[in-house]
Amino acid sequence: MHLTAQEERILAGEEGPGRQKAIELLVALGDIYGAERLIPIASAQVSGASFKTIGDAGIKFLEDFSEHAKVTVRSSLNPLGLDLRRWRSMGVEEDFHTKQARIVAAYRKLGVEPLYSCTPYLAGNRPRQGAHIAWAESSATVFANSVLGARTNREGGPSALAAGIIGKTAEYGLHLEENRKPKVMIDLGPVPEGLAPLAGYLVGKIAGRRVPLVRNVRFSEDEHKSFGAAMAATGAVSMYAYSGPMSRSRVDVSDVEERVALSRQEMIRCAEDLSGDGHWDLVAIGCPHCSAPELRRMARFLKGRTPTKESDVWFCTSRKVFASCPEEVGVLRRFGKVLCDTCMVVAPVERIYKRTASDSGKAMVYLPTLGKQRASFRPTMQLLEAISR
Ligand code: F3S
Repeated sequence: MHLTAQEERILAGEEGPGRQKAIELLVALGDIYGAERLIPIASAQVSGASFKTIGDAGIKFLEDFSEHAKVTVRSSLNPLGLDLRRWRSMGVEEDFHTKQARIVAAYRKLGVEPLYSCTPYLAGNRPRQGAHIAWAESSATVFANSVLGARTNREGGPSALAAGIIGKTAEYGLHLEENRKPKVMIDLGPVPEGLAPLAGYLVGKIAGRRVPLVRNVRFSEDEHKSFGAAMAATGAVSMYAYSGPMSRSRVDVSDVEERVALSRQEMIRCAEDLSGDGHWDLVAIGCPHCSAPELRRMARFLKGRTPTKESDVWFCTSRKVFASCPEEVGVLRRFGKVLCDTCMVVAPVERIYKRTASDSGKAMVYLPTLGKQRASFRPTMQLLEAISR
């Protein structure tokens, strides 16, 4: 890799051991992936914020790093393992909270913005089209590349943090135009109401590691959010191209090597396969974190209805969206907890519940694995009907 004189100085440790460690990581990645240089980034988004996912070794890494380094570009943090204000009511134990508080303190010292959300683009960190960024959260990465037209690889937590500290990332993968060209074309059939997440779930399985071009996409921004999140969970997909009303530009199809049809029937069958046994202790909505329009839609439906109280209910969102919707939060609170800073996957849900229902395709991948849950998929409206009468 070619480094500038200043980058060489950082690598030699002249700007301290924290920046040295950060640039070593970026250069190592650049060498592995054949990057020629480091490029400036507009923002970083750092994952690895829950004690559940990073453990004691992660705390030590962050505390050591925070002694010597600070981010130099806007960098925001993914969800934690708990809601910092409502963790007791979630059923989280004292010991977990103590460990989580050390992680929060280390990130604060590093200068990382406490958004605690997987939807930074809804909470003030929305990159412009063409901007190079270094984001780690898979659902945010796919949204940034595909819907916003920004450019990022799916970073790991440490590499996103290193990029935030140096203000640069190695130029490889999706930062380069030639790697953003679709390799597989998917003709999407009409998507049944509420099944955009499962359309993404199936597209991810078809695409695997390839950038797909999805045709006939007629999604709202919120549907894109859940569609891309599920795709990034079932496939190693960090970007999709699409044609349809919200698409921004003509797509270069010269590299497409396969064409596949995904029918309405396949999406319905997938919903049946993931429907579980119809019993759950927790209904969890907000993976990725709910937007303001989603909170409004749910509050509109639930207003005037009565909670059934047959299970616990979590609505997960970011602090920014929570603060912008006080009335809606008031309505939803009659039916369950409106949580910020966390979600049903990175919270220690397995210590509290055994069976969880969700409207998220991404959660159908991670609830059974990371969350050790028996998971049931239902479209949002069906969940709202189940929790109210
Ligand atoms: Fe976000 Fe948690 Fe889902 S981080 S995308 S709500 S698994």
